[in-house]
Amino acid sequence: MKNKIVLTGGCGFIGSHTCVELQNAGYDVVIFDNLSNSEASVIDGIEKITGIRPAFYQIDCTDKGAVYQAFQQEGPIAGVVHFAASKAVGESVHKPILYYRNNLTSLMNMLEAAQDFHLKGFVFSSSCTVYGEPDSVPVDETAPIKPATSPYGNTKQIAEEIIQDYEHTGVDFNAIILRYFNPIGAHPSAEIGELPRGVPQNLLPYVCQAAMGIRKELSVFGDDYNTADGSCVRDYIDVIDLAKAHVCALNRMVEGKSAEKVEYYNLGTGHGVSVFELVNTFMEATGVKVPYKVVGRREGDIERIYGNPSHANEVLGWKAAVPLKETLANAWRWQEKLREKGVM
Ligand code: UFG
Repeated sequence: MKNKIVLTGGCGFIGSHTCVELQNAGYDVVIFDNLSNSEASVIDGIEKITGIRPAFYQIDCTDKGAVYQAFQQEGPIAGVVHFAASKAVGESVHKPILYYRNNLTSLMNMLEAAQDFHLKGFVFSSSCTVYGEPDSVPVDETAPIKPATSPYGNTKQIAEEIIQDYEHTGVDFNAIILRYFNPIGAHPSAEIGELPRGVPQNLLPYVCQAAMGIRKELSVFGDDYNTADGSCVRDYIDVIDLAKAHVCALNRMVEGKSAEKVEYYNLGTGHGVSVFELVNTFMEATGVKVPYKVVGRREGDIERIYGNPSHANEVLGWKAAVPLKETLANAWRWQEKLREKGVM
C-alpha cells in the first residue's frame, strides 16, 4: 500500500509542485487548502501532469475540528508537509495578528494531529529569513538566528521553536525543517506555476509581468549595494528542485532514518545571483525584453544572502539541478499560458 501524505497549502506554488513530485515518487497525496491564496483548478493541472488526482479538502488548518475530521476520514497517514501559511512580508507588518493566528495556530493543530494520528514525519516550510542579514555567505544551518524584521519572519522563527519544544516532549514522530532560499520557476509542462494575486511582490513574477506588458516596468530596488553590480544578491532555487527535497525529507522519516528528532536543512543552490543578473539571464533565456528602471532601496531588504546546501546534499542526497536559464524559461512559458487562458 502507498504511504499517504497530507499537504497543507497543497494548491499553492510550492505545494502544488511538491504534490507532483510526491505522486511521481509513489506517495498518495491528500491536500488541505482553504484556497485563500490559491485556486482549486491547480488540482486539474496536477492531474494533467501525473495522471492522478489528489484527494482534496477545502479546509482551514486553524480549524482543528475540520483537520481532525479529515484525518479520521482518510485513515492511516504517514506524514505531513505543512506549507499552509500567509506569506506576504509587507502585509504581515499591517496585519500581525492575522499572521500569528494563521501561521501558528495551523502549525499547532497539525503538530497535535501528527501525534494523535501516529504519523512518522512532519516537514515544515521555513525560510532563510530566519538568518536575517547574515554575517557571512554562504549561510549554513549553524548560522545565528537574527531578530526577525517582520511579523511574517517572526512566525517562521517561532514556528521552528514550537516544533523543537514539542519534539522535546518525546512525541512519536520526527520533524524536518526546510529553510528555503528564493523559490522561483514553474513546471516545464506549464500546467502549474505561481499565481500571484494583485501586484507581484517577488522579483520573478514581476519580471514576467513586465516582460508581458502587464506592468509598465520593473523597479529595481537599489543599485548602490556593496555587491559586484550594486543590486541585491539572492539564491534562486527552482521550484521543482525544491519540491524534490520534500520527497527526500519524507523518505528519510518514513524509512526511520532520521538522526535527530528535529533536523534542519538549507535548500538553495549555493550560488548568489544579483537582480541585474537575473533580469539579464531572463532576457537571454526567453529573447524577451524586460523594461526596468532603478529606484531607491526597498525597506528591510537584505544586501546579500545565499545558502550553503552541503548538509542537504550529503544527508538527504538532494542537490539543486535545474540551470537558472531553464528555470526562467519555464516561468515565462507559464506566464504565456496564463495569457492564453486569459487569466492575466
Ligand atoms: N526586487 C526588485 N524589484 C521588485 C521585486 C524585488 O528589485 O519588484 C528585488 C528585491 O529588492 C530583492 C530581490 O529582488 O533584492 C528579491 O526580492 P523578492 O521579494 O523576490 O524576495 P526576498 O528575498 O525579498 O524575499 C524572499 C521571500 C520571503 C522571505 C525572504 C527571506 O519572498 O518570503 O525571501 O529573505 F521571507
